[in-house]
Amino acid sequence: MSQTWIKVGALDDIPRLGARVIRGPRVNIAVFRTGNDEVFALEDRCPHKGGPLSQGIVFGRRVACPLHEWVLELKTGDAVAPDIGCTRAYPVRIDDGIIWLSLVAQRRSAADCVSAVSA
Ligand code: FES
Repeated sequence: MSQTWIKVGALDDIPRLGARVIRGPRVNIAVFRTGNDEVFALEDRCPHKGGPLSQGIVFGRRVACPLHEWVLELKTGDAVAPDIGCTRAYPVRIDDGIIWLSLVAQRRSAADCVSAVSA
């Protein structure tokens, strides 16, 4: 499947340790900016009970969900042990200070997540 990139906006439009939500017809995607100006994108839905990850606290390359404080890896969407689960991660890139997002998720479903965890 070819990869189509959509323009999110300027890196500087997202505050460090903050996030911006891209709303779609089926999923909302949270685009996060770390303290080191790295950018990651996850479905804006916690694998625990659906909390809005975009409202969470970013630290390092992780985000803590605002509802019950599960911690997820920004790069993969994997929950950090002892919690088990994941949310979809999406490719992002930065060109000349502009963030681009691909809607081709790196994993398709929670089932992929379970198999990835047990693999
Ligand atoms: S909904 Fe995210 S930790 Fe519970």
